[in-house]
Amino acid sequence: MNTAPSSSTFFIVVLLSGKGSNLQAILNYIQQQQLNIKISAVICDRSEALGLEIAKQHGVATFYINPKDFATRQAFDLALQNQISSLPCDLIVLAGFMRILSADFVNYFAGKLINIHPSLLPKFKGLNTHQRVLDANEKTHGCTVHYVSAELDNGPIIAQSQFNVQPSDDATTLQKKVHALEHKLYPQVIQSIAEKKSQEN
Ligand code: GRF
Repeated sequence: MNTAPSSSTFFIVVLLSGKGSNLQAILNYIQQQQLNIKISAVICDRSEALGLEIAKQHGVATFYINPKDFATRQAFDLALQNQISSLPCDLIVLAGFMRILSADFVNYFAGKLINIHPSLLPKFKGLNTHQRVLDANEKTHGCTVHYVSAELDNGPIIAQSQFNVQPSDDATTLQKKVHALEHKLYPQVIQSIAEKKSQEN
């Protein structure tokens, strides 16, 4: 694996709040494909997040920013912005980061901020997507990687993966199927953004 920082190394910072299965998938993919992509750090807003442990196991720097230390969302976002700005970073990857980011933060990092969402946007923005897909009798379901804009789950779509919903599916099976797609799609999108940047240089 080529992880030696060089002028062509593509640096990402991952923000998460939970299990970190997408972080794990990104780490695996970078290693398997021998990509010159390095995760500068994982930043988290929940001290108990399993994703922090995954990062530590892989020798990735971690930062926990406690929202309770800040009086306002803007103050938290500014601390987050300062932390990211202190790191090598070509792309900020939201991987289950359960906070709504302020417009100032999003605009500051415009074009460098991507998210993965468990639905085929623009359908089913927000939470509980799997149950809502079932309730709406959708024939297909999937995931979307998109640039983050100030409006929730509304930025330009980069890529989607989908599958047909089966009569036997429930919210749990849909979540598993979506996760499996996410774990393929997200690393591939990151790779393609990194390749695009290296061609520009
Ligand atoms: C994923 O389903 C993603 O679409 C959503 O949050 C979940 C994160 O899962 N934004 P994990 O923490 O990567 O396992």
